Amino acid sequence: MKNALLSALDPATLRGRTALVRADLNVPLDGARVADDTRIRASLPTLRLLVEAGAKVVLTSHLGRPKGEPNPAFSLAPVAPELERGLGRPVRMASGTVGEAVAAEVAALEEGEILLLENTRFLPGETANDPELAAELAGYGDLFVHDAFGTAHRAHASTEGVARVVRERGGHAVAGLLLEKELSFLGDALDAPERPFVAVLGGAKISGKIDVVEALLPRVDRLLIGGAMANTFLLALGLEVGDSLVEPDRVEMAKELMDRAADRLVLPVDVRVGAEIAPEAEVRAAERTEVGPGEKIGDIGPRSVAIYGEILREARTIVWNGPMGVFELEPYRQGTVGVAQAVAIATEAGAVSVLGGGDSAAAAEVAGVTDRVSHISTGGGASLEFLAGATLPGVAALSDAEEVA
Ligand code: 3PG
Repeated sequence: MKNALLSALDPATLRGRTALVRADLNVPLDGARVADDTRIRASLPTLRLLVEAGAKVVLTSHLGRPKGEPNPAFSLAPVAPELERGLGRPVRMASGTVGEAVAAEVAALEEGEILLLENTRFLPGETANDPELAAELAGYGDLFVHDAFGTAHRAHASTEGVARVVRERGGHAVAGLLLEKELSFLGDALDAPERPFVAVLGGAKISGKIDVVEALLPRVDRLLIGGAMANTFLLALGLEVGDSLVEPDRVEMAKELMDRAADRLVLPVDVRVGAEIAPEAEVRAAERTEVGPGEKIGDIGPRSVAIYGEILREARTIVWNGPMGVFELEPYRQGTVGVAQAVAIATEAGAVSVLGGGDSAAAAEVAGVTDRVSHISTGGGASLEFLAGATLPGVAALSDAEEVA
């Protein structure tokens, strides 16, 4: 089933209509200042399309986890001026999330205007996917545009619930431009990858990524492992890992995965170790067979970077999620930077590369390759769930393309 898309609608049909847009404006704040505007910038194309077509836009999002009650520390107010700057037109902050006053503000909207509602998570009904809240939000628009890929794995009132109500009322719930782009990059990589298809998985824990490993293994030509999750595999090989971060209760699982994957699963042959994982740590490169008792593995080693780099340079499709080491700390940064550069070079040679959000996006920035990869997802948890093959409720609730055509 194909989702209905905003991009497929005739812009002429949007003039004068009120579009309820769910974006993921869950950005980090530094006091009342937006500390990273990536998600705001990513939401602009959909908003631009709508206002230029003469639609009235009611924009919703959550920010942080305010636990169902108003909390000024989680207000979306600092986001409005950033949106204004990006769009070059005024964005009005609503007096609340729902209620009579907000309904009046919605009713007063003119063509091309945007009203940003307050944080949906100020209301307990949001995360509970309360049908009444969904219905109230649905009443604010005659078209629902879901553009919050980063929140599409949540069945909340402003994502899944509202889409359902809009459709029950005979309206349409369509994917915005960002959601469309995310689904197409991630979906194409999984469903129709040009080969070789190489996945790179890092991060701290196997337990958090086991579903992704399971889902990717049958699809990929190579699965390169890094980060602390590699330590558990090394332990499963019977190697000394010193005082490194490991998950002893996942060793059997790691063995089973290695048996099943054979040479498709690639582990580091060497590592960077130190007495501690700290900014000033003195580190050395060690073969994986030469980690001493008490040492801590903080990164993959230089030979592993070279091997991973060679495999990546041959790849035509790359999916990367999770850093290779503790890249936030200078002594343990080289693995992540080296792999990031190999991904960038492969991309410049024609590969399609897709990076998961969150840590992976931050790692790409540290490595200076943000503009040299095909796509960096705005979704952390959502991209992981998608890669694990889960149906995202916020996507499943949208209209089918045929319904809207
Ligand atoms: C995210 O940052 O991953 C999304 O905005 C979802 O936020 P949540 O994990 O608080 O639901």
